[in-house]
Order: sequence, then C-alpha cells, then structure tokens
Amino acid sequence: MERVVSGIRPTGRLHLGNYFGAMVNFVKMQETNDCMFFIADIHSLTTHPNPVDLQGNVRQTLIEYLASGLDPEKAIIYVQSDVPETYELYSLLNMIVYIGELNRTTSFKDKVRQNPNNVNAGLLTYPVLMAADILIHHAAKVPVGKDQEQHLEMTRTFASRFNNIYKVQYFKEPTAFNFGHELIKIPGLDGSGKMGKSKGNGIFLADEPSVIRKKVMKAVTDSGPTEPNSSVSESVNNLFTIMDVVSDSETVKFFRESYANCTIRYGDLKKQLAEDIIKFTTPIYERMQELSSNEEMLKKTARIGAEKARESASKTVREVREIMGIRTL
Ligand code: TYM
Repeated sequence: MERVVSGIRPTGRLHLGNYFGAMVNFVKMQETNDCMFFIADIHSLTTHPNPVDLQGNVRQTLIEYLASGLDPEKAIIYVQSDVPETYELYSLLNMIVYIGELNRTTSFKDKVRQNPNNVNAGLLTYPVLMAADILIHHAAKVPVGKDQEQHLEMTRTFASRFNNIYKVQYFKEPTAFNFGHELIKIPGLDGSGKMGKSKGNGIFLADEPSVIRKKVMKAVTDSGPTEPNSSVSESVNNLFTIMDVVSDSETVKFFRESYANCTIRYGDLKKQLAEDIIKFTTPIYERMQELSSNEEMLKKTARIGAEKARESASKTVREVREIMGIRTL
C-alpha cells in the first residue's frame, strides 16, 4: 500500500477549490492507500491569525474533513501541531535548504507582493515545513491542487539533497497527485485567477443555498458570443470549469454547445450551475451540522490521529538524527 500524505490550512471554511483540488482525492485515496491527512495549523501562522479564531478554524476544518467523507477508521486524521516532531524535522531540513531557492519560490514572491509588510521567515521557509510534513511519513503520493506543484518539486529536491549529502537512500521522492488527471486549478467567480480563501471569489462547502445562488448569479461573465464557435472568454470559461466538476456531462455539453451556436443565456447557465453546486454541497452541509455538536467524537478523532501520526514521525526523526550525527554522548 502506498503512503499518502496531505493537508489543508485551517484559515476559514473550505471552498470548492480545496474540495476539488485536494479533498476529493483524499476521500477516494483512503479506500486503497495508507493515508495521513492533517490540518496544517502551523502553516497558517504566517498571517498571524487571532488565536481564538485559529482554534475555531482547526475545529471547523476537522468537521469539514469528516463531513466530506474522511473516515478515521480508514485514514489517519490529525492536527499538524499535535505532532511536534514536525518542528524538529523542519529545523533539521532547514540546514540543507538554500536561501536562494526559497527566494525564488513563486508562492513566496506572490506573498511578498501582496503583503510587503509581513515578509517573515516562516513564509520564506514555508516549503521546508511542507517538506517536513511529507517526508516525516515517507509519503509516495501527495494529493494537491496545481498551486502546490512547485512545493512538491522542492520537497523532492530536499529529499534527494539530503540523501546525497549524507550518502544514504533514506528519503523517498514524493509526487503531487490528482486522480486520473493533471493537477487542477478551480477558478474563482470574479473572472480571473484561482478560487481562494481570502479573495471573496469562492463558494464554501458551508454556504447556505441562498448564499450560493447569490454568489453564482453575481459571477463575472462577458457580453456573450457574437459569432458561432468564437473562443470562450476567461470569465465564462471559468464557469464552465466549475460546471465540469459539479454538473453531469450532458449539462456541460448543452451549455458549451449553446455557447458555440450563440444561443446561450448566461442567466440560465448560472441558475443551473448554482443548483448543481447546491445539490453537491447540501449533503456535506447537513453532515457538518450533525458533527458540530459531537465534541467527544472530534476530540477522540484528533487524539487518536495524533498518536498514530507521532508513532511514524518519531521514528523518522530518530533516524534522521542518527544519520546527521546527532547522538547523545
Ligand atoms: P491550502 O490550504 O492553500 O489549500 C489546500 C489544498 O487545496 C488546494 N487548492 C486548490 N486546488 C484547486 N483549485 C483551487 N482554486 C485551490 N485552492 C486551494 C491546494 O492546492 C491544496 O492542495 N501548503 C498547503 C497545505 C499543506 C500541505 C502540506 C499540503 C501544508 N503541508 C503537505 C500537502 C502536503 C496549503 O497552503 O494549501
């Protein structure tokens, strides 16, 4: 059985991008693989969330993991900070990572541009912490969306550099993974770019139907096709991309054809899209309501997950210390 590891930052509610980029893979992979899925609370500290909000978000993310179909009987589900061995591997890996390569990371450069007043060392070394999460359990596959591809490449670089420096075959080189396809990017409703947590362009699994309808009806489109088979603008193509994952293939075909022959009405497209999203999120939303009052079960899931994850993590850290020459006198 292949070892699979992945995580999501608890920075609010999960949106359709998180779901279709990552979660849908988690749910499928737990059936046939040895899976470990965590809530990446340490990663979310780079933006200095209010401590009370952070705690609530960790709890909410656990609820959303379970409501989406993750099963603690099938996968190990844990909170990143409950496995302190992660910090140790992170510090040790930092010794073999070069500042130059961190400076060139796309996600780092984006964050510097967006937030020039908070360029902290945690942001710079973000990919090292991610590598620690993955390498600590010797993952072979890491289900993620397209935006994480470079981080996985860096994880492979660090793994092979460690093996070279210490002349061992210790760390595996993990690959980013998406079931049956290339890695995906779910676009936002604002006409360009990916769906994100703080961009105001997303639909959350926890959105009520009326909110989903409102958001979809407000999605950016264009002024409509003017001649048959004209190329589709980015904003409309984004709606088709979301439709591709939530609607059945007949529906997608119908609207794509009506675009091609210029009979499309964006109002109809949006109504259909909103209803298909609601059909998809409603069962998850209902399970969230059931789970949210089950405090005992949430605590137990996190406790058992942490115990199991620490078993695997502490073995790795022991071995890495030994390889690097850190031994008690
Ligand atoms: P995060 O929390 O930003 O996103 C979690 C997962 O959702 C995917 N995703 C998307 N996929 C497609 N389209 C989108 N619009 C979209 N938005 C988000 C992300 O690709 C990701 O898979 N650094 C990671 C969390 C992390 C992690 C790890 C992942 C920490 N350690 C180790 C894997 C392995 C992050 O910030 O993801």
